Amino acid sequence: MASVIIAGVGSYAPERILTNEELSKMVDTTDEWIRTRSGIGERHIAAGNEACSDMAVRAATAALADAKMNASDIDLLIIATCTPDMPLPSTACIVQHKLGIPAHATCFDISAACSGFLYALEIAYGQLLTNRYKRALIIGAEKLSSVVDWSDRATCVLFGDAAGAAVLIKVDQPGIGIIGSDLGADGEFADKLMIPAGGSSCPASAQTVEGRQHFIRMNGREVFKSAVRVMETVSREMMEQHQLTPDQISLVIPHQANIRIIEALSANLKMPMDKFYVNLDRYGNTSSATIPLALDEARRSGRIKPGDLTLLVAFGAGLTYGAALIRW
Ligand SMILES: CC(C)(COP(=O)(O)OP(=O)(O)OC[C@H]1O[C@@H](n2cnc3c(N)ncnc32)[C@H](O)[C@@H]1OP(=O)(O)O)[C@@H](O)C(=O)NCCC(=O)NCCS
Repeated sequence: MASVIIAGVGSYAPERILTNEELSKMVDTTDEWIRTRSGIGERHIAAGNEACSDMAVRAATAALADAKMNASDIDLLIIATCTPDMPLPSTACIVQHKLGIPAHATCFDISAACSGFLYALEIAYGQLLTNRYKRALIIGAEKLSSVVDWSDRATCVLFGDAAGAAVLIKVDQPGIGIIGSDLGADGEFADKLMIPAGGSSCPASAQTVEGRQHFIRMNGREVFKSAVRVMETVSREMMEQHQLTPDQISLVIPHQANIRIIEALSANLKMPMDKFYVNLDRYGNTSSATIPLALDEARRSGRIKPGDLTLLVAFGAGLTYGAALIRW
């Protein structure tokens, strides 16, 4: 029996750090409000000339080095992003060119917002298992600072920029790597978190720009409630499917949107907070980059050891959600 393993992980966050103090000079907010309501202390912000693809390349280069592979080894590249460099072509094709991934590779973007990395993981997992491809590079990369309304205190304090990447390969050894993966979506909640204009339903015009419709709009309370519900459900289902109890999971890497969402998940699953990897105090919500960025940090800081079982769990606009179990 074969398995698909994560052979390498890498991440990148831009140099510029924007603190809560600085934000409190831009909008009517305070460090205290942001910390207590969200758990965020600071976030990284990409340079003006730094695109989503530039961050993706930095993270991918680190993941390839970690896997001891070259870009020329990759035959499947999937980029999860809701902030692509541009509507056409895909950011994956731009990254393919920048990295030097061969022309025969399949390269495409997927749109699943903050669950995007887990969606990419599941797609790559299936493709590798069926021998369609040999080595996959999956990336979550976001320049959310380009779609945040910097005059809206309810959203601008929450988001940051970053990228994270993983290299996936198939190995002839059972029971390691991706043990399980489960995804879901509930389009009923599509209007709770959106960028209203710039697509085919509301093309860009002087009016849409004037109405600030190219920025993120969110119903925070509704998103919060849905996030807790779906992350708990998909985590439980994943453990049940694999006959696992919470104490068998060494580390949970949840999507980092709000510390209170993670605390609610911890309480509902009856898993102590010290089993949850948290770095949102330093990065905020970096959407699809969050899970691979946290995974990279957790591995480098020794929080993941050989044999450990890690649960990745995310939710995002759509409403999308997903979970994956990884045995190291
Ligand atoms: C956004 C979020 C932090 C807001 O926290 P909350 O406790 O729900 O706060 P509310 O939206 O109820 O707002 C409470 C008050 O704080 C105010 N407020 C909102 N943002 C503020 C800020 N940055 N600073 C100060 N006050 C703020 C509101 O205007 C409101 O004031 P009012 O009572 O006078 O109307 C929280 O709802 C959340 O995290 N939701 C999930 C968002 C998410 O995960 N998004 C990403 C999905 S991938």
